[in-house]
Amino acid sequence: MKRIIIGISGASGMPLAHTMLLCLRTVPELEIHLIMSGGARRVLQTEYAMPLGELLDYAHVVHEISDMAAAPSSGSWLHSGMIVCPCSMSSLASIASGAGINLLHRAADVTLKERRPLVLVPRETPLNLIHLRNMQTICEAGGIIMPFSPAFYTKEVALDALMRHFTGRVLDQMGIAHNLCIRWQGEEGQ
Ligand SMILES: Cc1cc2nc3c(=O)[nH]c(=O)nc-3n(C[C@H](O)[C@H](O)[C@H](O)COP(=O)(O)O)c2cc1C
Repeated sequence: MKRIIIGISGASGMPLAHTMLLCLRTVPELEIHLIMSGGARRVLQTEYAMPLGELLDYAHVVHEISDMAAAPSSGSWLHSGMIVCPCSMSSLASIASGAGINLLHRAADVTLKERRPLVLVPRETPLNLIHLRNMQTICEAGGIIMPFSPAFYTKEVALDALMRHFTGRVLDQMGIAHNLCIRWQGEEGQ
């Protein structure tokens, strides 16, 4: 049984977080640990007509954001990696600083120090120099910055298909096998 941590912070992009959880639930032998910030709960309410409980139900374990004693706060608790999707600029800054002020930030910090995959899906545009520098810091510390950047070679236009493909590319970074992507096979193969 593998474990994965999903962090949802208060940036726009709740449909993407939903798609990610939906897809992860289909992966066999994978235990999903969810940490959702207060900001994320607010954005969910504002932009996505999904009751909080329904989103939380995708996780096997939900950890309270304030619970600094929860399992993901320690490197001795083994897991296969963490995805923060969407990642707000506030959470990005906190992770880059190593401040660890809530469980989401602490779990990301621990993931980096244990040299496990940490994928952040930042959501902001345009990016200012502070955002870019924070991304650089995290990248230098071993984190993977993966903005939602749809693949158009698949010729899919439906947002749902684009989000599923992107989710597959994130799972590639985690070393999780899946069937979510049409993969580029060279021009002849398309
Ligand atoms: C409706 C709504 C949408 C937001 N969208 C974004 C966003 O796309 N990117 C971002 O960095 N912050 C966004 N914010 C601001 C964050 O929610 C805010 O900075 C919050 O403190 C983030 O905290 P957290 O990372 O702990 O969730 C949004 C806020 C609201 C209310």
